[in-house]
Amino acid sequence: MEAGMVTSAPALVRFSGIQKTYDGEHLVVKNLDLDIRKGEFITLLGPSGSGKTTTLMMLAGFEVPTHGEIYLADRPIKNVPPHKRDIGMVFQNYALFPHLTIAENIAFPLSVRKTSKAEAQERVRAALRMIKMEPLAHRRPGQLSGGQQQRVALARALVFNPQLVLMDEPLGALDKRLREQMQLEIKQLHETMGITVVYVTHDQSEALTMSDRIAVFNDGIVQQIDRPDALYEHPVNSFVAHFIGENNVLAGTVETVEKEYCRVALAGGGAVTARAVNVSGAGASTSLSVRPERVAIVPDGASSEGPNRLPARVQNTIYLGDHALAVLNVAGNGEFMVKLQPGTHDSLRHGSLRPGENVFITFRPEDCLALDPA
Ligand SMILES: Nc1ncnc2c1ncn2[C@@H]1O[C@H](COP(=O)(O)OP(=O)(O)O)[C@@H](O)[C@H]1O
Ligand SMILES: [Mg+2]
Repeated sequence: MEAGMVTSAPALVRFSGIQKTYDGEHLVVKNLDLDIRKGEFITLLGPSGSGKTTTLMMLAGFEVPTHGEIYLADRPIKNVPPHKRDIGMVFQNYALFPHLTIAENIAFPLSVRKTSKAEAQERVRAALRMIKMEPLAHRRPGQLSGGQQQRVALARALVFNPQLVLMDEPLGALDKRLREQMQLEIKQLHETMGITVVYVTHDQSEALTMSDRIAVFNDGIVQQIDRPDALYEHPVNSFVAHFIGENNVLAGTVETVEKEYCRVALAGGGAVTARAVNVSGAGASTSLSVRPERVAIVPDGASSEGPNRLPARVQNTIYLGDHALAVLNVAGNGEFMVKLQPGTHDSLRHGSLRPGENVFITFRPEDCLALDPA
């Protein structure tokens, strides 16, 4: 499951057999084994309710695991209170103290830790410089924009040089442009400071942008832990294929399996050759996954070779500035997306493909994954 995990930087955090239930019946974290390396930026990604925040709260010490143990730098931390774990935290709602100035907010973790006044002053100044907010040091949180408040929360989490920083949807309240800008700023801070970050988001593009590795959560279970490119190229099941990036699904039945490939009869007619990623054998139901940018459209009548050639009917095209999408009906899937590459033949450009037109699509067997039925 953990392809590519050959490097062996020491684990700073280890979740071992962690389970959590709030009501004594339903496990919201089912059996978590996860190593987080020193210096790593790891993201817990998954839909709402999948157990991300609960996992983060157990690491922070605000929730207690029902079973299992968490290790921080090889020491079990079940009985270590939150303020002794040396962990900085950033939440979506900033959680700044409204009656304190920006400088006082940032200084707060230092006063809790009884840092000397001179050192605290120097550190606050450096933190303000880091977030480029020195001139605003004496304002109060209510006098700042959302983005500025989140920078202050970030500075407050980093000011005491914690060995670990946890962030739970920290950019969720910001608009898209600011969110993208802050993603890069946080990433840069991670790189320059060499800190270990555990980041929680439900936004797959945010996770892909920022992370060294991503743990994909669903229903309290980690589905896959991998680098962003590996998750995109080699999802281990339909959930991951669906959650990461755009994805076309075709339902079918496995006819034959030969080494890494299988031949699949489509429920909507026709047959294709696919990589046998997660199928039990001949006769099994499968859900095929094909990325929109890995499909080519060929005009009706044009000759094309290859094992994967399917008739398609154009539904419409969508112009998106830097590229366009064709929406096709393929083997009963009426929302099959094909990314139209810039520079394609004129007859295949946006605006040239007419609704109702019959075409063919082709894709390589290695770009078509046979997975568990969705
Ligand atoms: N304090 C709590 N008490 C009871 N149930 C909770 C509590 N916190 C979370 N849950 C439940 O646990 C599940 C996982 O929640 P959470 O960890 O917040 O997921 P996520 O952060 O992925 O959205 C959800 O079903 C949620 O309703
Ligand atoms: Mg959450």
